[in-house]
Amino acid sequence: MISEPCALAGDPPYFQSFEDYPSKETLKAAFGQLPSGVVVVTSIAADNEFAGATVSSFNSLSFDPPLVALGLAQTSKTLAAILGFQHFAVHFVSEANRDLALRFASGSTSKFKDVSCKLSRNGVPLLAGFHTSIECVLDSAQIAGDHQLLIGRVLSASVGDDCGGPVAWFRRGFHSCLPVADRSGSDRRYVE
Ligand SMILES: Cc1cc2nc3c(=O)[nH]c(=O)nc-3n(C[C@H](O)[C@H](O)[C@H](O)COP(=O)(O)O)c2cc1C
Repeated sequence: MISEPCALAGDPPYFQSFEDYPSKETLKAAFGQLPSGVVVVTSIAADNEFAGATVSSFNSLSFDPPLVALGLAQTSKTLAAILGFQHFAVHFVSEANRDLALRFASGSTSKFKDVSCKLSRNGVPLLAGFHTSIECVLDSAQIAGDHQLLIGRVLSASVGDDCGGPVAWFRRGFHSCLPVADRSGSDRRYVE
């Protein structure tokens, strides 16, 4: 098990100093324990080329107005594209899209090669083969350490009938999501 002691010094209330934060390895190990959904985010770069990246920091945020949030590394080409083009699409990854998600997580310069894709009314690349996708206009962007936190306002959402096999990113790998039953055998999947 990886753990690092919290070095608390001085008099109460023992606020921890910023220098004591966990190493990147510890953080990766810790964050990797939390299963998360995976999406592929697309937009248009300044040179009019398509841009896209695989993202697990995506979350729904608000219904009224409809807002979503995601974090992109300052070095991400997709971040630069979204900041410039102000619009982006989010494609929810299921089992059928796993290989494509790995391609969009790479530094490849031909991520869109042989990928079936059409432009939305706002000119955002929409990838074929994803059961659910949404299109957003950038609402705000905030620098957050080595990332930027983007908040997008949802313009449209497309949800297919068959959501495919849902997958989660967990411990640096894709896992399929199966329903759980509690020990008594009753189905406790849903919030009542
Ligand atoms: C499952 C998975 C989730 C990822 N989530 C994020 C993320 O939330 N934010 C991010 O900046 N990069 C994330 N990445 C890494 C980017 O996909 C990767 O750095 C990509 O090459 C960025 O492409 P770009 O520079 O063309 O935008 C993730 C990678 C994987 C495999």
